[in-house]
Amino acid sequence: MTILISVFFITIASVFLSKYIKKYSQCLYLIFTFIALVATVHAIMIVNNYSITYIPVLKQVMKAIDSGAVGGASFMLVMYTGVLNKKYKVTRNLMQIRAELSILSGIITIPHNVHYFFHFILGKANLSAQVGIPLWANLMMFTSAVFAIMIMIPLFITSFRYFRKKMSGKAWKNLQEYAYIFYGLLFIQVIMVYVLKPASMTRNFCLVFYSSIFLSYAGQKIMQVYNKKRTAVSVKIKEV
Ligand code: HEM
Repeated sequence: MTILISVFFITIASVFLSKYIKKYSQCLYLIFTFIALVATVHAIMIVNNYSITYIPVLKQVMKAIDSGAVGGASFMLVMYTGVLNKKYKVTRNLMQIRAELSILSGIITIPHNVHYFFHFILGKANLSAQVGIPLWANLMMFTSAVFAIMIMIPLFITSFRYFRKKMSGKAWKNLQEYAYIFYGLLFIQVIMVYVLKPASMTRNFCLVFYSSIFLSYAGQKIMQVYNKKRTAVSVKIKEV
């Protein structure tokens, strides 16, 4: 359920505070970097079998960051903004801060990446003792996650205006196309995460929730591209 709460708060904040997110983005990058730093130290301590006790609320927030829910929720908002109807003010608000949201999502996902990447690398996932579906699901989760990071890094860097200006518009647009592969890899990762979890209502709900978000996005994106192509063809026919 952490993902639902994360999606709710991140969407509400992004829609209603978009003006301030845009205006104070540099400040927000610093604040998020500080929180990510603390959460990364926590992740390294967990991997080394230490633990940190937080006051309530902070505990839930740090757990949501560590589990990937906060990073995942904000990336899903960035993703979905691309298929929302632009006639709505909500969509225009979100479109204005898409670069900022991508940067904040990238920063807040670092602790999760550090935690679970080293969790796997240090053999804590106990892959050698696994066979069949658990083994393949773990390998697919790890591989899709690592490739997702490899795509996320250049997308993250080129979301900063300073680097974006150094690229031609065409080169930047071509690079952004990789975001669709990133979303696909993210989907594979979270589905494998929940396939591996013991059967429960929460697990089944999360499987349905993530599938409906990513598959409805894919469906709308395909329709959007198809309609765009169809309009372009009909304009061409009219010109002839
Ligand atoms: C771009 C990078 C990544 C993103 C956006 C991401 C996102 C997510 C999301 C959304 C979840 C589910 C959270 C939930 O429903 O509560 C998750 C869980 C998980 N991810 Fe990632 N992830 C990333 C990288 C990685 C990497 C590199 C690994 C390991 C190699 C990894 C391993 C895991 C594991 C083991 C879980 C389950 C955590 C738990 O049970 O609480 N992730 N991730």
